[in-house]
Amino acid sequence: MFINGCQVEIRAGETVLETARRSGFQIPSLCYHEGLGAYGGCRLCLVEVEEGKNRFLAASCTLPARAGLRILTESQPVQKARAQVIALLLARCGNLPVLHDLAERCGVPQDLYPRLVEDECILCGLCVRACEAVGGRALSFTWRGIKRKVSPPFEKPSEECLGCRACAHVCPTGAIKVEEGPVSFTLLRWKTEHTYVRCRSCGRPFAPLRFTENFGTILEGGAGVSSGTGAGTAAVAGALAGELCPACRRSLRARELSRTAAKR
Ligand code: FES
Repeated sequence: MFINGCQVEIRAGETVLETARRSGFQIPSLCYHEGLGAYGGCRLCLVEVEEGKNRFLAASCTLPARAGLRILTESQPVQKARAQVIALLLARCGNLPVLHDLAERCGVPQDLYPRLVEDECILCGLCVRACEAVGGRALSFTWRGIKRKVSPPFEKPSEECLGCRACAHVCPTGAIKVEEGPVSFTLLRWKTEHTYVRCRSCGRPFAPLRFTENFGTILEGGAGVSSGTGAGTAAVAGALAGELCPACRRSLRARELSRTAAKR
């Protein structure tokens, strides 16, 4: 494949965005995350594709890399389309530092369009996909047009939310804020509070209760856990993960290992 005239090696299963980044080409993106499937929502990663006599713009995060493709990442049509995308995002989320940086880098005036909404969410959908990947399914897109947003059903705290914070972790704009308390934390955007479970050994709060409860269910349903020694130990360690904090689990494991070594 060729990017900006340079021949680059492609790898099976890669997208154009992944090949380009691995080969040292910069393409901006907001809704791409290497741990989650491609979505093509923000359109920032647009590139120009040359195929025979055809030339078209495509989102590089959803375009499979293949031999013979000719890609331009900084052509005039790409720069124009990228500038439009940034300007429209600014009209929705005008106070986001990440957009201001992008606008500056791409030479886009900050006030090309009037501000339509004041939000920190660019509707990239990363939080929805992360929630689904973890198994929570607490979030989805709701409403349409200018009112479109991401929220739990009926905009009420969801029973499906596990408190894993994957949504806050992947959010590219920092729209999902977490307020920490001594025994619980709250995902402010979803108004969802989660109580921490305390470590059975040291008593320190260490993980959201609902997440550890779910973790137990996953293990119980795990058909792959056999009674063999290795799998058995893994199952015990896994079960303890819901009761012991990481530090206590580590020291328990270290004690177990030194006992085993002493017996030999
Ligand atoms: Fe490709 Fe958002 S990163 S569309």
